[in-house]
Amino acid sequence: MALDHKSPSDVLTTIYWDNNSVKLIDQTRLPEKLETITCFTYLEVADSIKRLAIRGAPAIGVAAAMGLALCAINSSSSTKAKIIDELKSAYQILLETRPTAINLKWGLDRVFREAEKYETVEEIKKNTVACAIKMSQEDIAINKKLGNYGSDLINDGDVVMTHCNAGALATVSYGTALGVIRSVKKSGKKISVIATETRPVMQGSRLTAFELVHDEIDVSLIPDTAVGHLMANKMIDKVIVGADRILKTGHVYNKIGTYQVALLAKSHGIPFYVAAPLSTFDLNNETSDIVIEERSVEEVIKIGDKRIAPAGVRIFNPAFDLTPPELIAGIITENGVISPPYEKNVRILFNSL
Ligand code: MRU
Repeated sequence: MALDHKSPSDVLTTIYWDNNSVKLIDQTRLPEKLETITCFTYLEVADSIKRLAIRGAPAIGVAAAMGLALCAINSSSSTKAKIIDELKSAYQILLETRPTAINLKWGLDRVFREAEKYETVEEIKKNTVACAIKMSQEDIAINKKLGNYGSDLINDGDVVMTHCNAGALATVSYGTALGVIRSVKKSGKKISVIATETRPVMQGSRLTAFELVHDEIDVSLIPDTAVGHLMANKMIDKVIVGADRILKTGHVYNKIGTYQVALLAKSHGIPFYVAAPLSTFDLNNETSDIVIEERSVEEVIKIGDKRIAPAGVRIFNPAFDLTPPELIAGIITENGVISPPYEKNVRILFNSL
């Protein structure tokens, strides 16, 4: 695959397998620099996930899967039992990089299950790599399907707000929430996007604005604090965000600030949609089981190298929040749009698979 981050459709490609290594866009360098990191070991992949060089739920799912495949091909084990043991310990290290997005576990489980199917070390190596590559290809196809379903919800000329980055940079390519935007544009309808900055890591300004400008999609950037003002002044028609984990009840975990955007949308009568693949659903856990990642105080204390808070102040920096189902107008998936009541309709969808 080409190394210039452009798929044939010219959308950014965030991560790909390349000749026994994993190449990924270093998102910590955006928007100033579009640079690639090459990971040769699963520990390098784990480090990239931890420090947000790659982030976004579907992207870290594929990164973890490719990380596990790297562990397999680098193994010098001579028996199935030994290589499976190595994979188990890599699985745990990759799993512990970030706690909230369920896609991480989904990606690891899929590659690990694939490894268990084979008897020889060579077969395990070959098939874990093939599985991880297949997952990355499926991700793009899923986002395109999901994008087409979502496109039907958007009218010609709509202004759509999004929060954080649920775009090509949060997936292998094309994106979920921004996949919907791309599909709307492709359908010939006019669309413009309002992106929130998304403090403190600025995924909205650094990544969403970057990739929409890159694709020549109309985008305006606003401070997070301007959401209510724009909604009250009828400047937003719809909201679409991504998700890190969706429970069977329709509770959605996404980037911190999503909940307040959803509340404001509800109180202004603006439809609030979530776009996510089925791999983001967690049908086994309840809200009390979910760990919301708390990130470093440095993210809040500083902008770049400049300190913006006094020494000694106490900082709380949760990276995700929970949006309850009653605020969500629909969940856009590759199998169609799920409408409320979610508990019933999520069950129907998964039973039909
Ligand atoms: O901390 P991040 O940047 O990994 O958080 C990402 C988000 O919250 C995205 O909105 C979410 O993963 C959806 S990505 C398609």
